[in-house]
Amino acid sequence: MTFTSDALAGRVALITGGGSGIGFGIAKAMAAAGAKLVLASRNAERLDAAVKELTGLGAEVIAVQADVRNYEAVEHAVARAVEAFGSLDIVIANAAGNFVVPAAEMSPNAWKTVIDIDLNGTYFCARASHAALKASSFGGRFIAISTTRALEGWPGCAHAGAAKAGIMSLIRTLCGEWGKDGIRCNTIAPGAIGDTEGVKRIYEDAGRKELELSSIPLGEFGRTADIANAAVFLCSDAGSYVTGADIVVDGGRNRSRSSTGVAVPAK
Ligand code: NAP
Ligand code: COA
Repeated sequence: MTFTSDALAGRVALITGGGSGIGFGIAKAMAAAGAKLVLASRNAERLDAAVKELTGLGAEVIAVQADVRNYEAVEHAVARAVEAFGSLDIVIANAAGNFVVPAAEMSPNAWKTVIDIDLNGTYFCARASHAALKASSFGGRFIAISTTRALEGWPGCAHAGAAKAGIMSLIRTLCGEWGKDGIRCNTIAPGAIGDTEGVKRIYEDAGRKELELSSIPLGEFGRTADIANAAVFLCSDAGSYVTGADIVVDGGRNRSRSSTGVAVPAK
């Protein structure tokens, strides 16, 4: 147990992409800290499996099938949270899509697809949840998951890098606009998180694992639990004076890169 079991007691959290990877890690940690959960994503089977596992751990959780590219679907997920649990206090805009393709070979629709999921989907979540978060008796929390690659350039992932940079700008704007409504808006920037499909695909399957590890001062990939711990902190009373921040959780990787974004080997 990293946080007390009542650190998020009484709060209701909507987590997009909460059925897998980092989103599922956040769901587990938030449930252990006493939050009620709404998981939203496209794949009903994946959602059902996640609900089953979380329920088995004692969580109060529902799932809503929703594609974050569809504003009405996002609105519906927010409405279901309030209907099922009486409030919505926390939104984690975590859903994302990404694949490696050089910018010069990327189809216009490939670009649009990732921008739609990551950037537009995050805005849709914010827009649809504003009124509910403003009404939160705890002070609403809106967290978007970005990446340390957002501002350094991301060869092979121009679409995701641009979308995540847009998300960082959006969150800073929301911090300025929504502070008066008591809503804290932050990004969490994970480095390479080892227990996720993405890192398996982008680094391990591509034979880049050792190279990537050599650029991380702490010498190991992160875990979904590391990102979840940052999220629980931001959403608890302990995080109540933090807004407009980008919490980097990356084992120091972004500090060991040159100004061109190319990894500077640690040894
Ligand atoms: P993941 O397991 O592939 O999770 C992505 C989730 O997003 C899935 O649960 C997926 O569920 C959902 N999703 C995708 N498209 C969606 C859509 N259109 N509408 C609704 N839900 C959608 O990936 P992850 O590695 O945990 O990544 C989670 C977040 O961390 C992302 O924002 C990612 O960019 C960020 N991140 C990850 C790493 C890393 O090392 N893994 C590093 C930096 C940042 P469905 O298929 O059911 O829709
Ligand atoms: N390389 C190049 N282009 C690709 C691609 C790849 N690996 N994967 C998809 N595309 C292109 C498609 O060809 C299509 O473009 P086109 O119409 O010009 O052919 C476009 O991207 C959309 O693909 P599609 O499969 O129709 O999109 P989708 O909405 O069904 O799925 C994705 C969205 C592509 C992002 C899919 O990978 C996904 O669902 N990802 C979620 C999980 C994930 O990415 N996790 C990592 C989180 S960071």
